[in-house]
Amino acid sequence: MDISVVILAAGQGTRMRSALPKVLQPLAGRPLLEHVISTAETLKPRQVCVVYGHGAEQVLEHFSDRDVQWALQEPQLGTGHAVQQAMQHLREDETVLIIYGDVPLVLPATIESLAKAASDGPAILTVIETDPTGYGRIVRDPAGAVSAIVEEKDATDDQRRISEVNTGLLACPVNQLGPLLDALKADNAQGEYYLTDIVAAAVADGVSVAAVMVDSPTEVMGINDKLQLADAERAYRERVAASLMTDGVTIVDPARIDVRGTLNCGSDVIIDVNAVFEGEVELGDNVSIGPNCVVKNSRIASGTTLNANCVLEDAVVGKDCDIGPFGRLRPGAEMKQGSRVGNFVEVKQTILGVGSKANHLTYLGDAVIGDGVNVGCGTITCNYDGANKHQTVIGDNAFIGSGVELVAPVNIGAGATIGAGSTVSKDAPAGELTLERAKQATVKGWKRPAKQ
Ligand code: UD1
Ligand code: MG
Repeated sequence: MDISVVILAAGQGTRMRSALPKVLQPLAGRPLLEHVISTAETLKPRQVCVVYGHGAEQVLEHFSDRDVQWALQEPQLGTGHAVQQAMQHLREDETVLIIYGDVPLVLPATIESLAKAASDGPAILTVIETDPTGYGRIVRDPAGAVSAIVEEKDATDDQRRISEVNTGLLACPVNQLGPLLDALKADNAQGEYYLTDIVAAAVADGVSVAAVMVDSPTEVMGINDKLQLADAERAYRERVAASLMTDGVTIVDPARIDVRGTLNCGSDVIIDVNAVFEGEVELGDNVSIGPNCVVKNSRIASGTTLNANCVLEDAVVGKDCDIGPFGRLRPGAEMKQGSRVGNFVEVKQTILGVGSKANHLTYLGDAVIGDGVNVGCGTITCNYDGANKHQTVIGDNAFIGSGVELVAPVNIGAGATIGAGSTVSKDAPAGELTLERAKQATVKGWKRPAKQ
């Protein structure tokens, strides 16, 4: 049977105390709702339909490029009313899986088994909570069959002691759900149309309701405030770290790594503390990431070492390179095999050739640097004239002395040597020594000023 997924995401999220709608709050660098949509898509459903309402414009805009159906719920009269808004998109002959936009850690296997359990009737997802306060309680008959879900505010004292709670996630054949929703009444403590009321109604019709229980309350935690958001962030971090370690990555402290995106690692990768990975990052075999590095949308080939405190963004690093400590690769930086970028060196939109080195205190921007080049300490490519950017080209095996300013556009020939302290604004020929310096003078008998 086909599956359609409905994601409930219209609620306000007042407790976030934020101008940003709740489902756009970031978890591991991506909005909560994006995690949920991605998880839903793993089931290859016929469609994903999002019920939205609060923060409508921002939510629609953020997901404008996603292939989802939208159903506006305005006003928001409860979870049952929310699902009703999506019914127009559903087919009678399929199963609908209802999940929440603020329950981001639920695993694909869990929602898959919930959908499977709903092949001939409603199925709910439950969990045992040590503190069930705030949740709907699962009421079972003496034989153990589910008979109702009772909301905290409508529960008796006895029912409040039940520790099996409703996660909110539910699946049902669409042809059964329609009539159950139509029969909902808002005669409860909150005056809302509760989706959960379909359980007792189905049972009254003689339909049994299946219950799938998850082991971990964390997997189904709902995010309502910034404290829960931080709890979810920690849980996400632990999950990612565990999966990397299972794949053989050495993580010095799994509590001190953040992966806000996708991290693919080869074998024998070592990641020291406080590393942050954002976007798509690829690390080849034997790559070593030192403490406090931030790596965003970059590829690092095998055998390369990032020493402490490096920041990389949109960079491509070849094999056996060495970067930092305190190296910075900005967008368009490309280091070829065996090259080295040392401390306080910034590289932007620049190719650094095979085995070339810029070891200290240097800015390389808009440059093409050949193989075997040595860039001395304190070298600056002056790429910006205040209006436009210009390129510096340095040939193979050139040697740039310390403290050189290369005023682009400028070409340094292969094998050229540039004397320390030169400001080079004209092309320097290959194989020759080029200098640009004032004549050194000594003022004989000069005296330092004395204090009066
Ligand atoms: C709901 C369940 C409760 C369960 C709990 C789990 C009902 C009546 N109760 O309660 O049994 O234990 O979740 O967290 O379903 N939403 C809409 N439109 C609305 C109302 C809500 O889209 O009109 C969305 C919210 O954005 C949220 C989800 O539905 O993603 C749940 O809503 P919420 O108000 O948090 O329900 P709870 O009171 O927590
Ligand atoms: Mg809730």
